[in-house]
Amino acid sequence: MYFEMGADGQAKVFSILKVLNFLSLTLATMIVLAACSVQAPQSGATLYRENCQVCHGRTGAGDGPNVGDLPIAPANLRLLAEANGGVFPTEQVMIEIYGYRGKDLDALMPEFGPVLDSPQVIWTAADGREIPTPSALITLAQYLETLQN
Ligand code: HEC
Repeated sequence: MYFEMGADGQAKVFSILKVLNFLSLTLATMIVLAACSVQAPQSGATLYRENCQVCHGRTGAGDGPNVGDLPIAPANLRLLAEANGGVFPTEQVMIEIYGYRGKDLDALMPEFGPVLDSPQVIWTAADGREIPTPSALITLAQYLETLQN
């Protein structure tokens, strides 16, 4: 069977090739970035600035530049301890960041599990439970604790 491709068809094939080329470059870049992030653990301040500040604001008050685009205001992260009787709710906060929140809220608060993928360490809860936890998640939660009013 003979199939003749018109100029239009050729243009389509060409643009598909361009997309594939772009995707492979993107993938290569991602692999290099992933390899880099393995060695150097980031500080809590850096993790916060890179992943949270756009919505929650520089000081955690819920006033980041993205606020206007969201249907729900980002939480004021400076009030987490106050809302919990003066005790910073570390475990609850880590669970929320890690992405175990209700499905209907997924669209609002992105899941940071992959971003915070880091070596697991044992984190000991107030009641003595020992929970294997990504170290970057603990670092970030400790940083949030320093932002409390
Ligand atoms: C795209 C905007 C956006 C980004 C980025 C974002 N958040 Fe949020 N966050 C929200 C919104 C909106 C809410 C409140 C609604 C909800 O619960 O989903 C929220 C809620 C929270 C809560 C729950 C607060 C409470 O009162 O229980 C915590 C904790 C939190 N964010 C921490 C973080 C951390 C830490 C990061 C960075 C790793 C982050 N957020 C990044 C939008 C964002």
